[in-house]
Amino acid sequence: MIGTSIVQAKMLLEQAKVVAIPTETVYGLAGNALDKAAVAQIFHIKNRPFFDPLIVHTHSLAGIDELVQEFPVAARRLAEQTMPGAVTLLLPKRSHIPDLVTSGLPNVAVRIPNHPLTLALLSSLSFPLAAPSANPFGYISPTTAQHVADQLGDRLPYILDGGACSIGIESTIVGFPNQQATIYRMGGMTIELLEDLLQQKIVLAPQQSNSPQTAGQLDQHYSPTAPMLLGNIEQLINTHSDRQRIGVLSFQNPYLHLPNVVERFILSPDGDMIIAAQHLFAAMRYLDAQHLDLIIAEPLPEIGLGRAINDRLRRAAAKATHFPPL
Ligand code: TXA
Ligand code: MG
Repeated sequence: MIGTSIVQAKMLLEQAKVVAIPTETVYGLAGNALDKAAVAQIFHIKNRPFFDPLIVHTHSLAGIDELVQEFPVAARRLAEQTMPGAVTLLLPKRSHIPDLVTSGLPNVAVRIPNHPLTLALLSSLSFPLAAPSANPFGYISPTTAQHVADQLGDRLPYILDGGACSIGIESTIVGFPNQQATIYRMGGMTIELLEDLLQQKIVLAPQQSNSPQTAGQLDQHYSPTAPMLLGNIEQLINTHSDRQRIGVLSFQNPYLHLPNVVERFILSPDGDMIIAAQHLFAAMRYLDAQHLDLIIAEPLPEIGLGRAINDRLRRAAAKATHFPPL
């Protein structure tokens, strides 16, 4: 059921049930982070492998203090400047957090989501919420309550509807190995802004596609069912002229008059990356529902939010390297 009752969501969560919740980035599949049965249920509903740890959501910095063993000065300053917001910090976990939540890793991922309904829900609860994105494992993340209902509606007692996500792309994950600010997943908070706040260069964690530190690093992720290619749209259309039903996912340009293009989605006619991020996952879902035999997308400029958007597009397109012949 979809609804807007915090009381209903709270009641179910207190019974160790799993409920979908809105955040400013994407919808989450939430359960009591301190209750192993609730956490196991999240993995089960999402069909998610246990090696892929969950982010723990709380409503305040004091809430984070209760989850972590230490909160280094640089991390705390960053948290003060960015939370609530689209950033997740990796910090040494306290022992009462079940190993299931962190997949046995020494750090816990913590975040304060910037959404009024979910902040109110979190403040009304006596426990934090573990929540991955509310999509079946490997598929496109949901940015509306309806997206969640479409795929997981029959497995969830309640979907808390907080409207369309204002950012539309997952949080940026930042860790501090050896005091070096390191990005494990690009996301809704830009590297440029984070470097500005931290007053230091941030490094990107090396991509480990087979044993990733975070599943967001898996080569293939965020994928539509239809094969998707990323690159120069006109060139790709020419090399795949055997495809009859092509969908085009472009940044600003409508790419009119191209052969075999039966659907198109323009992320932002004005070239605004904030708008593009808001529309990205809904666009991929829309195109994926049109029974296309190929989706062709183009990368955005590799700056600001464009980097996180390109990261998602690349992973969505990754399986098309072996996409089926007609
Ligand atoms: O914006 C977001 O972060 C959304 C909303 C719902 O908060 N959540 C989200 O969760 O994107 P999920 O599970 O889809 O992606 C979380 C990523 C995963 O790739 C996971 O591997 C990584 O965070 N992660 C979680 N805990 C970790 C830990 N202890 N160490 C390293 N990576 C971790
Ligand atoms: Mg996810």
